[in-house]
Amino acid sequence: MGPTAFRIAGLPEILQELGWQVTDVGDAVPSEAPVVSHSNPAVRNLDAIIAWTKSVSLKAYDMARSCDFPIFLGGDHSMSAGTVSGVARRAQEVGQPQFVLWLDAHTDLHTLNTTTSGNLHGTPVAYFTGQPGFENCPAPVAIVDPRNVCMMGIRSVDQAEKRHVADIGITVFDMRAIDEQGIVAPLNSFLERVRAANGRLHVSLDVDFLDPEIAPAVGTTVCGGATFREAHLIMEILHDSGLVTSLDLAELNPFLDVRAKTAHLMTDLAASLFGRRVLERKTRTY
Ligand code: ARG
Ligand code: MN
Ligand code: MN
Ligand code: MN
Repeated sequence: MGPTAFRIAGLPEILQELGWQVTDVGDAVPSEAPVVSHSNPAVRNLDAIIAWTKSVSLKAYDMARSCDFPIFLGGDHSMSAGTVSGVARRAQEVGQPQFVLWLDAHTDLHTLNTTTSGNLHGTPVAYFTGQPGFENCPAPVAIVDPRNVCMMGIRSVDQAEKRHVADIGITVFDMRAIDEQGIVAPLNSFLERVRAANGRLHVSLDVDFLDPEIAPAVGTTVCGGATFREAHLIMEILHDSGLVTSLDLAELNPFLDVRAKTAHLMTDLAASLFGRRVLERKTRTY
């Protein structure tokens, strides 16, 4: 339903008005995948997610080869096990490092061994950074160096994730850091690293990055999220940087929306990332 809501909210037309040529390649379908068992009985829907990850990662690789800027519409955040590993394979092929900006309330860094909810949308970052704990699953088609991952907006982290995130070198600007420093300086420090490394940058935007007051349409709302203005500013700065090469719009659940406001907000944020602005500006704003 998420992708349909984005289409109905007018995402393709809005990007066209901004001067982009848009091709909607339609909905992905899951691949065939073997039945896989796992020792953690909490794990849910593993077979289905393996089947989707396989199909989405191949599609993402394909899209990263054949178009300037793939956008992946979700779908819960387990989609990013496929999208990120797929675009990372393309980065590997062209010899550029893959960076990821993870905009989320959550670190999504559980493995199949540590998840207690069993919801695999809590695991994609561990999967695409190649962490142990997915032993019976197909390996990612390419992995991202965790030191090339930057997270912003984080405000709900489980115990096992806390230990892990510090160990593997992900840069985390949690909500406290954003309250103290704002979003501009932390974001620019990351973008400078991407630029210096001539990297490719995937942005993964989870609806729950945003405050639930403005974005209720997600199953895992957490109070104290990014404001409307912070979120648009991030997207505008990302646009101006010229560094972003692919985007996930994840976790939109239209059943939970209120007068489609979340679908419209996510669509407008994408528009800011693709160049919509209030005034023409000659120079970067930072
Ligand atoms: N850490 C929690 C869990 O593993 C929440 C994960 C939420 N992730 C998301 N993509 N909404 O269940
Ligand atoms: Mn998430
Ligand atoms: Mn989340
Ligand atoms: Mn989820």
